[in-house]
Amino acid sequence: MGPEPDMARSLSGHPEDAAIAAPFKPATGSPWTVATNDNLTAWSGPWGVSFAANLTPDTNTGLHSGVWTEELFVKAIRTGKHMGTARDILPPMPWPAMARLSDEELKAIWAYLGTIPPITNHVPEPIPPTGTPAK
Ligand code: HEM
Repeated sequence: MGPEPDMARSLSGHPEDAAIAAPFKPATGSPWTVATNDNLTAWSGPWGVSFAANLTPDTNTGLHSGVWTEELFVKAIRTGKHMGTARDILPPMPWPAMARLSDEELKAIWAYLGTIPPITNHVPEPIPPTGTPAK
């Protein structure tokens, strides 16, 4: 069947218990320059390692947490900046394509993400190419 979705963890991002300490490479002989983990939630490439975000409305670890707002969400997708203002959002998050969605569509996605079950999962910060985690 290949990889199957784990709906108990739906949209909760890279599992916090699947620790990754440093950038990793594709298997020897692979033509790829980018590698991923078995969960498809950690992506290692020239930018270091990025981890899929927790998009569920968990109070402490997800969107709709009190830190994010609809305005910040739309701004992040439109600008490719973390929370709309900070560091660049890293690959493979397809924000350049999503930035072309209308305000109505992005606001609908934001509203939907507020209705799904909250899952507590603290996704780690990206690891830079040097391999030293930000925290
Ligand atoms: C409708 C679909 C999607 C939505 C609503 C969404 C939403 C988000 C949001 C809000 C963030 C956090 C941005 C920030 O830090 O400011 C994020 C990060 C991320 N997303 Fe997505 N995403 C979607 C699709 C995808 C897809 C298809 C992929 C991978 C193929 C992906 C991979 C990632 C990764 C790796 C990050 C972490 C980037 C970083 O830390 O810089 N996302 N996403």
